[in-house]
Amino acid sequence: MQTLLRIDASARADGSHTRALADHFQARWQEACPEGEVIWRSLADDPVPHLTDGLIQAFQASGDARGAASHLSDTLIEELRRADHVLISSPLYNLNVPSPLKAWFDHVVRSGETFAAEPDGYRGLLDGKRATVIAGRGGLDSGTGTDDFQSPYLKAILAFIGIEAVDMVTLEETAMPDPIRLKAWACARLQVDRLFGRDGAGPRWIGEFSDDDRRQIDDLRGGQSDAIVKGDARAYADLCAEDIQLLIPGREAVAGRTAFLEAEEQLFLHATFASFRKRPLSIERSGNLAIEVGLQEVAMDDDGNRGGIFASRQKYTHVFRLCESGWRFAVLMSNPCE
Ligand SMILES: Cc1cc2nc3c(=O)[nH]c(=O)nc-3n(C[C@H](O)[C@H](O)[C@H](O)COP(=O)(O)O)c2cc1C
Repeated sequence: MQTLLRIDASARADGSHTRALADHFQARWQEACPEGEVIWRSLADDPVPHLTDGLIQAFQASGDARGAASHLSDTLIEELRRADHVLISSPLYNLNVPSPLKAWFDHVVRSGETFAAEPDGYRGLLDGKRATVIAGRGGLDSGTGTDDFQSPYLKAILAFIGIEAVDMVTLEETAMPDPIRLKAWACARLQVDRLFGRDGAGPRWIGEFSDDDRRQIDDLRGGQSDAIVKGDARAYADLCAEDIQLLIPGREAVAGRTAFLEAEEQLFLHATFASFRKRPLSIERSGNLAIEVGLQEVAMDDDGNRGGIFASRQKYTHVFRLCESGWRFAVLMSNPCE
């Protein structure tokens, strides 16, 4: 049985964006592991105290000499040991992690328990675990590395105790007005969905595909979802062959990249996607073409489906073509599911 340890660090119970995204992650994880166990710690509801002189002495003592002082720390470490996957949802507070999350780490990062001090350096003792960090913030990362000490800290401290396989999900612009906030939310949700799409949920590959062919086609599919959720028609058109054809029942057929770009720009003006999830079922190669069929699930913002263009569940057929620059979308078709 798999175990998910979920740590929520937001001080807010209602209206917390990072908790809401952690809810989505947990729902996807439970879909993937229906028998799995979830251990949930909300640091706002159940705070971990800051370190004290007595506690540090207890950590340094051995066996019975520790007394009851280290009981909470022992319990938190035991939860961590039991976990196969650790999920941390954490907002940026004044450029860093919320202090309750720092206190949680101060209780679980313990010499001889989760790391060892060895002659040639420190060694993390928690092998074989994966972690996902949902890092939320009100604004945008400036890219200077001086306004977000949270993400580097979390990666470093998890690696310190031996958890090196860490997926970072960034949820930005939570303090921005709609539709900026909604678009940023959809992008973060897509990052979570892609974590689950990655493991085993790919199509059945029929015919000769090299590893590079598969990677390129997977990247096209991922790039398409990113571009659609961000409403970036240019990025979407860049994934397409020069003579791309878009065939959607009830709408005029579109042929050629220029017409495709215009059509998508118009579409994104009138439709805002909350999520776009693809489940490729099979892909078959025939020469320099590959034909994929699958299902796509589309969620629109309340006001974002003006004209009712999109059904929530669609079957799709895509043709990819191997062009000089690599694989590209050549034909995009979709039909609503009954
Ligand atoms: C005390 C405090 C400090 C914050 N500091 C930052 C910051 O340094 N940079 C930033 O982009 N957002 C900052 N924010 C915004 C939060 O990161 C943002 O509102 C986030 O969505 C909060 O998480 P939650 O929605 O899960 O509660 C701060 C918010 C609070 C309450």
